[in-house]
Amino acid sequence: MCIKFSSARTKESERWHSDGIVYPKPTWLGEELLAKLARWCVEGRQSGFKSTLSLVSIMKYSKAYQELKEKYKGMVKVWPEVTDPEKFVYEDVAIAAYLLILWEEERAERGLTAKQSFVDLGCGNGLLVHILSSEGHPGRGIDVRRRNIWDMYGPQTHLEEGAVTPNDNTLFPEADWLIGNHSDELTPWIPVIAARSSYHCRFFVLPCCFFDFIGKYQRRQSTKTQYRGYLDFLTEVGSACGFHVVEDCLRIPSTKRVCLIGKSRTYPAAAEASMDEQRTRYISSRRGCPVSPPGEGLGALEAAAGHAPGAQAGQRGTEARPEGLWLSGFHPREKAERVRNCATLPRDFIDQVVLRVARLLLGGQRSDAGSAPRGGVEAWNRGGSLSLAEVASELDRETLQRLKRECGGLQTLLRNSHQVFQVVNGQVRIRDWREEKLWEEKELEARKTRICWFFTHHPDGCVLPSDCCPFAHGPRELRPAPATRKKRQLL
Ligand SMILES: C[S@@+](CC[C@H](N)C(=O)[O-])C[C@H]1O[C@@H](n2cnc3c(N)ncnc32)[C@H](O)[C@@H]1O
Ligand SMILES: [Zn+2]
Repeated sequence: MCIKFSSARTKESERWHSDGIVYPKPTWLGEELLAKLARWCVEGRQSGFKSTLSLVSIMKYSKAYQELKEKYKGMVKVWPEVTDPEKFVYEDVAIAAYLLILWEEERAERGLTAKQSFVDLGCGNGLLVHILSSEGHPGRGIDVRRRNIWDMYGPQTHLEEGAVTPNDNTLFPEADWLIGNHSDELTPWIPVIAARSSYHCRFFVLPCCFFDFIGKYQRRQSTKTQYRGYLDFLTEVGSACGFHVVEDCLRIPSTKRVCLIGKSRTYPAAAEASMDEQRTRYISSRRGCPVSPPGEGLGALEAAAGHAPGAQAGQRGTEARPEGLWLSGFHPREKAERVRNCATLPRDFIDQVVLRVARLLLGGQRSDAGSAPRGGVEAWNRGGSLSLAEVASELDRETLQRLKRECGGLQTLLRNSHQVFQVVNGQVRIRDWREEKLWEEKELEARKTRICWFFTHHPDGCVLPSDCCPFAHGPRELRPAPATRKKRQLL
């Protein structure tokens, strides 16, 4: 079978270009497919996600995807080198194909001929805007930071550098659709902006990182995955804004493939004023509470919101907010982001803080005593738990100040040291890798590409045998790291 496979591989590779989606690469087939099949068999039934492309005709989608792929494949060659062009170009081609078919079917349902207009908020590299515009949809993209690649598209692709702030001045009454493709902080605001832009405005969001109206979204309900919880939160936002929200799963290589679509409203146009009061109450109800209450649902939130400030009829909140801001505290990100993720701190300094905190948690045991697991697994010392304040009180002022200045603080450093620590509700513990779930796809790529901290530093060594530990037990196990796929926003 192996022989057959490799001969087929040689012949085929001469004839087609892998796009990583429809035609997987031979290495993927050889090294990853079996593991994936096994995982899908177990996970499939309980995933809780819609099946792929459930809202559009798969036939039409596949045809559109193939055509667009052919048409825009040239982009792969001219793509900036820092990112994987196949992944980025074909992902945007797939999203564009999906939207084009969704919109085509919408035109047919509504008996329209004019192509829908759109605004892509947080458009990044602008490729999606470029494709949709080139396919005849009038629209534009806005991003706080312009990209060099914007110059390549030509004047018919409208891209604007500017910060979007959710307020009364940031409305798009001319747009049929608002798009949020991995739009980060803007994601929960997109249904709100769409709802307030005009009664006919619809939205499409494809969320990736988890943001609430202000700051990071945090889940409390641990029965759901963080991803599922976040999608449910966005659905709740859309419903609170008066949309029928539907969900679909795109055919893209990314691990975050679920999109949410607000295609129609739940109320008649005449009820706009009272609906907007509900929106205001809902948004206010989330202030200072970046977590949906357990048993969440609109009913519960509306009840809670009844007591919220700014719930007066006909007003978007009673308290003073600058420039008609819909929720005080939202600050669009800066054009050039300051890096405060510990990446600028010297490795030695980070390692020392990690060791110091680990020793504290291990109850004063030296944590650099040996590299081989000692004693049975039962004897493995996980140490205790300390609050962030307790940990901070054990560190000197200079260290704390440096952390605050250059890395966003002690908590950020501990969270970034994910291999070693677990930080939950302000309590810090040593991570016990026996409790960790199956690694996600993207993490599997990184297996054995970093040294196991426990193998090197923990007095009892690593709690896992080498073949179960995702990290390398010694330099001999180290694999080269996969080519770094820089974040989309770097593009
Ligand atoms: C993760 S990137 C995604 C970019 C692009 N949509 C894509 O999928 O490749 C998020 C983008 O949102 C932009 N962004 C975030 N907040 C913004 C704001 N308030 N106004 C405008 N752009 C914003 C960032 O500059 C960044 O380009
Ligand atoms: Zn290990």
